[in-house]
Amino acid sequence: MISELLNDPNTGKYFVLATLLFFGAIETFAGHLKNSNRTLHDWMAEFGGFVLLAIASFAGLFGINYLGEQFFPTAHYSMADLSLWIAVPLYMFTDDIAQYWYHRSAHEHNFLWKHHRVHHAAEQMGVMVSYRNSAFYFLFLPNVWIAAIFTFLGMIPATIIGLMVKQLVVASSHSTFKWDEYLYKIKALSPVMWVVEHIFVTPSFHYAHHGKSKADNISDPNGNFGNAFTIWDQLFGTATFTRKYPTQFGLQTDPKDSWASQLFYPIITSDKPGSELAKGHKKISSATNEAIAVELEAGTHLWCQCGFSKNAPFCDGSHHGTKIKPIAFDMKKKRTVKLCNCKHTKASPFCDDTHLNL
Ligand code: FES
Repeated sequence: MISELLNDPNTGKYFVLATLLFFGAIETFAGHLKNSNRTLHDWMAEFGGFVLLAIASFAGLFGINYLGEQFFPTAHYSMADLSLWIAVPLYMFTDDIAQYWYHRSAHEHNFLWKHHRVHHAAEQMGVMVSYRNSAFYFLFLPNVWIAAIFTFLGMIPATIIGLMVKQLVVASSHSTFKWDEYLYKIKALSPVMWVVEHIFVTPSFHYAHHGKSKADNISDPNGNFGNAFTIWDQLFGTATFTRKYPTQFGLQTDPKDSWASQLFYPIITSDKPGSELAKGHKKISSATNEAIAVELEAGTHLWCQCGFSKNAPFCDGSHHGTKIKPIAFDMKKKRTVKLCNCKHTKASPFCDDTHLNL
C-alpha cells in the first residue's frame, strides 16, 4: 500500500493540497483570515502563483521526460533501485541547496528580484504566501526541474518523500500558525528546539526573512534564505536565529503594483510611477559628495549603503536586487549626527570626510 502510494506521482499533489487545507483551516478557525487585510491583488497574486507553479511543475515533468527519452533513453528509470536511505537525502539536499542559491540570487540580482518581489510584497504571512512568485521565477525554479529529473531517473518514492517533507516545512514556515512559538515557551524543550532550528526552517527563522526591515532587530530580509533546511544559511553566513517574530511584513517602499504586473512582468509592466516593475525602470544613485546632518531619536536606524535610496541617507529598501545591505546602528539618545552620503566612509554610517578626497 505505502509502496504503491510512493510510486504514484499523484501522491505528492494530494499531499500538497492536504497540507494547504490543513494550514488553511487552522488560519481560518484562528480568525486570521477574517482579520486579514489582503487586497484582491494579494489574493490574485497568491492563487495565481499557485496555478503558475502547478503549470511549471507539469511542464517540467513532461519536458524532462520528453528530452530524456530523446537524448538519454537508457537513463530512464536507471536509478529506480537506489536505496531510499541514499535517494531521499540525495534528492532533498540537491533540491534544497539549489533553492538556496536561486532564492539568494533573486535577492541579489536585479532582474531576478523583479520576479521575486511579489513574494515580499505580502504584508501578512499565511500559507498561500509561499506561492507568490512570478511566472518567470517559476519557469526557472530549480526545484521544478530537479523533481522532474529525479522522477525520470526512477527515484519517484524518494522524490515524493522529499516533496512531502519540504511541503510541510515550507507551508508551516509561512503559515500564521506559528508552531515553534508554543515550543519555545517550554524551557525544557529549548535544547531540542536548538537542534530543530539548526536543521529545519521554522516559522521564526522564515518570518525574519519576510520582516519589513532590519531596524526591528528581528528581521533580516537579506538573509535566512533557506527553503527546507537552515544549514545552507549557516554554512554561507546568512543565518539569523532570534526566536522572535517581526510584526511588520512587506516592502519598505511599495507602490502597490497590480497582481498582473507582479506575476507577468516583463510582459505586463506596472503603471505605478517609480515602480521597479514599470517599463524602463532603473535604479538612480542618490549618493552625493557631502555628508547629511540629521537629528536622530534614540533607537535603531538603517543607513543606506547602496546609494540608491530615495530617502537618503536612510535605507528605503532600494538595495533589493543588489548584494549591498543597509547598516543598522543604534543611538543611545537623541543626537544630531553627520551621516555619510558619498558611501565611501570607513566609519560607516558616519561621515569621516572621505568625500573631500574623492
Ligand atoms: S536603500 Fe537600503 S541600503 Fe540603500
